[in-house]
Formats: sequence, structure tokens, C-alpha cells
Amino acid sequence: MQHQLFKITDEGISPHLVPHRTLYTGAKMPGIGLGTFGSDHYGADDIANAVKEAISLGYRHIDCASVYGNEHLIGVSLHEAMEHGIKREELFITSKLWNDMHGDGDVLVSCARTLKDLRLEYLDLYLVHWPFPNHHPPMSGVDSRDPNAVPYIHENYMKVWRQMERLVQAGLVRHIGTSNMTVPKLRLLLGDAAIRPAVNQMELHPHFQQPELFRYCLDHDIVPVGYCPLGSPRRPERDRTPEDTADMEDPVILGIAERLNIHPAAVCIKWAVQRGQVPIPFSTSRNHILSNILCTVTEPLTDEEMRAIEKIDRNCRLIKGQVFLWRTAKDWTDLWDINGFIEG
Ligand SMILES: NC(=O)c1ccc[n+]([C@@H]2O[C@H](COP(=O)([O-])OP(=O)(O)OC[C@H]3O[C@@H](n4cnc5c(N)ncnc54)[C@H](OP(=O)(O)O)[C@@H]3O)[C@@H](O)[C@H]2O)c1
Repeated sequence: MQHQLFKITDEGISPHLVPHRTLYTGAKMPGIGLGTFGSDHYGADDIANAVKEAISLGYRHIDCASVYGNEHLIGVSLHEAMEHGIKREELFITSKLWNDMHGDGDVLVSCARTLKDLRLEYLDLYLVHWPFPNHHPPMSGVDSRDPNAVPYIHENYMKVWRQMERLVQAGLVRHIGTSNMTVPKLRLLLGDAAIRPAVNQMELHPHFQQPELFRYCLDHDIVPVGYCPLGSPRRPERDRTPEDTADMEDPVILGIAERLNIHPAAVCIKWAVQRGQVPIPFSTSRNHILSNILCTVTEPLTDEEMRAIEKIDRNCRLIKGQVFLWRTAKDWTDLWDINGFIEG
């Protein structure tokens, strides 16, 4: 018997219609995924249910992470989807190695745990979540600091990367990638990697376009996956500062939304897909989940609209990462190498 959530409905979209990106291995990645970070507000049950809804509506790409604390329930949703006829090879499942698992032998342990929780035999993509072993307790505030925090140490990152490479060799993951990297750090990694990153996950939305890093990824055959594609309106308090701006309230975004008679969220997603990044919007609302994927196949933005959005970049980073700072760091900008060299 078909589960209600996995019926093909008039409302869903055929996954074949959704735009795809090709990774350097030739594998295809769906051009939009569902985010699963609950931003300290949404429960694991709600998110696991969102994964079910998303798959029933045509999503095949789910962005997970062990630190989100919900992989054990998302695994139930994935298992149920596969019991109702979705083939494993149709899905593209990402997870991420958390910062407290950078030690020798830890990467395999963490990946094995994620596979068990997600009830999978392999991941399509496994990312190093942050290029630092610095971490914070769940739900911590903006002033929380890891007393053992250190700056980026390339030798240590490569020890993590070698363990990531072994996961590919062992057949546990199909691709490996990075997250929260900068051009100077990626340059070092590309010089030393035996297996190159297929993807870099980075913050990308109209007010934070990261043009240099974005271009660097494309030039090196690394697919940019964009997190916070809607400007993360419900991000945790620790990721808010008074200077932050709201993409979905920008007059340019609102004007385009009015012309197309769509929600500003859909404008952000259309822009992301047309620009060449893979957005991973989070939602627990069935209507939002549906409209976020439908807009990838409906009327595109014009070239003029794309140029207008390019001009509203405000260099407004939302996920500044203050909680990962080390004792001698000046401020959060040290995490992001904005002067073109790695801060230590
Ligand atoms: N690599 C990293 O370090 C990193 C960092 C941050 C995030 N991520 C990943 O990126 C994903 C997305 O980022 P995010 O969750 O912070 O931000 P986001 O996707 O930009 O925003 C999500 C918020 O937008 C709302 N929303 C979604 N669709 C909407 C629509 N069509 N209309 C109106 N509101 C809508 C959602 O509320 P409703 O539930 O009400 O729809 C939710 O509150 C995360 O879930 C996670 O998987 C990765």
C-alpha cells in the first residue's frame, strides 16, 4: 500500500524536471535541496516530517549534518520513502562532519554513526562542516567560546581530509567536500588533496553573494551549494547582529516578486539556481516546501532582473561564526580571511 505522503500528487513535481548540476565525477546533483537545520526552533520530528513531505513533492536532495541532532529521525523518513518505492540511487543525501570529530580515527566513527542514523549504506556527499576543530554546546549564545579553540592549521585540516578520502576509497561516501571555506584555504587544499572537493557549501543569498569565492569554485569545478538562501529569517540569536539586512524585504526582490506574482522567497531561489549555485532552503511548511521547488521550473528571471539582483549585494554575512573564535582572534572577520591570507 502506498503511504499517503508518497503518492504522486498533482501538486508535486517530477524530480526529472528539477534542474541538476553535474559534479566533476559526472554524477548529477539535484539543483535544489531541503535544508534540515532547525535553527534551535524546530523539533527533530517536524524536520523529519518535512523530509517526507519534500520527497513526496519531488525533492531528491536532502542536506543533513550530525550536529543538527535529527539524523536518527530523518533516517526513518528516508527508510519509509524507500519502502514506498523511491530508489536509493534517486536520492542525493549530504551529511557533515562536526568540528568535535576532527581527531585521528574520528572521521570514520562519525560517518559510520551518520550512516546508521540515516539508515543508509553510503552518502552521496560528506562535508567537513567547518575548517576548525572549535565547537560550542548546542543552543549556546553568541558569547560562548571554546577555550581550546585554534585558528586554521592546514596540516591538521589535511589530516581530516585524508580520513575523508579514505571514506571514498572504502565506498562509504561518493563525494567529499568543504563548507565555510575561503579562497586561501581552498587553494591550499587543492594543492594537497588526492581526492578533490566536489562541492563547497557556503552562505549565499542576494545580500551576500561572495563573488570571489563563488567564481573560484566554478573555475575549479567545485559546485557552490548555497546555505541560508532566503536570508535565514529564523536563524539562532547567536547569528544575529543589528547590522544584518533582510533579503526578502529588499525593494528589488519585492519588485520582481510583484511582477511575477510570487513570494520573495521564490525570487531568491530562482536567482540562486539561475546564477549557478544549489540553494538548500529549509522549511517545515508543506506549502513553502512545494513553492520553493516549483519556482525552479517556472518562469525564469530576466537578464535585467539578474543584473539588478547582482547590484544589491551588501556583503552581509549572517553566519559570522563568532562562537568558533580562538583566544587571540581580533573578531569574527578572522574566520573568513578577508585580507586574502589565512589569519592565525
Ligand atoms: N554549512 C553550514 O555551516 C550551514 C549553515 C547554515 C545553514 N546550513 C544549511 O542550509 C539550510 C538553509 O539555511 P537556513 O535554514 O538557515 O535558512 P533559509 O533556508 O534561508 O531560511 C529558512 C527559513 O525561511 C522560511 N521559509 C522557507 N521557505 C519559505 C517560503 N517559501 N516563504 C516564506 N518563508 C519561507 C522557513 O520557515 P518555514 O518553516 O515557516 O517555511 C525558515 O524559517 C539549513 O537548514 C542547513 O541545512 C548550513
